[in-house]
Amino acid sequence: MKITVLMGSPNRNGSTGILVKEFVRGAEEAGHTCDVIDVCHADIHPCIGCVRCGYEGPCVQKDDVEMIRNKLLASDMVVFATPLYYYGMSAQLKTVIDRFCAYNSSLNSRHLKSALLTVAWNAEDWTFDALETHYKTLVRYIGLEDMGMVLGYGCGTPAMTKHSRVPQEAYQLGRSL
Ligand SMILES: Cc1cc2nc3c(=O)[nH]c(=O)nc-3n(C[C@H](O)[C@H](O)[C@H](O)COP(=O)(O)O)c2cc1C
Repeated sequence: MKITVLMGSPNRNGSTGILVKEFVRGAEEAGHTCDVIDVCHADIHPCIGCVRCGYEGPCVQKDDVEMIRNKLLASDMVVFATPLYYYGMSAQLKTVIDRFCAYNSSLNSRHLKSALLTVAWNAEDWTFDALETHYKTLVRYIGLEDMGMVLGYGCGTPAMTKHSRVPQEAYQLGRSL
C-alpha cells in the first residue's frame, strides 16, 4: 500500500515527528511505502474561496498543493499528523485540507484509508474531543476508511513523548496495516 503522511507540525524533530517516524517504521516493516510530506515547510497558500475550481478543477493558485494532490490521488492511504493547537489541528494542516476543495470529487472517489496521529500537552480525557470529532467528520465526508487514531495525551515535549507509550502505539498502528 502507498501511504502519504501529511506532517502538520512545524517542528521536524518534535513530538508529532516522533509519532510519524514510529508509524512509518511499523508500516514499512509491514511492507508498505510511506511518503512523508512536510506541509509546514512547503509552499502552500490558504484557499481564497473563489471556487473557480468548481470544487473539481484547476486551482487558480500555483503552489505545492498540486504535488500533494498528485501524491494523494496515487495513494491508498492518507495519514493526518498534527500537534493539538487550541484543540484543533495545526493551521498548516488545515490549509492543506481546505485546498482539497479543488479535487474534492477525485479524492472522494478514491476511498482512501486514513489515520490520525496527534499529540498534546494536556492529558484530560476531553483533550482530543474536538479534533477527534473533526477527523471523524472528515472521514465521513471524504469517504475515507478510518484505520485508527493515536491520541498522544500528555505529550507536551519530545522527552515527555519518548517516555510515554504513544510512540509504541504509532508503531503498532503502522505495523498492523
Ligand atoms: C500554538 C500552540 C497551541 C497549542 N494548543 C494546545 C492545546 O490546545 N492543548 C494542548 O494540550 N496543547 C496545546 N499545545 C501544545 C502542543 O500540542 C504540544 O506541545 C505538542 O507536543 C507540540 O508538538 P510538536 O513537538 O510536534 O510541535 C499548543 C502548542 C502551541 C505551539
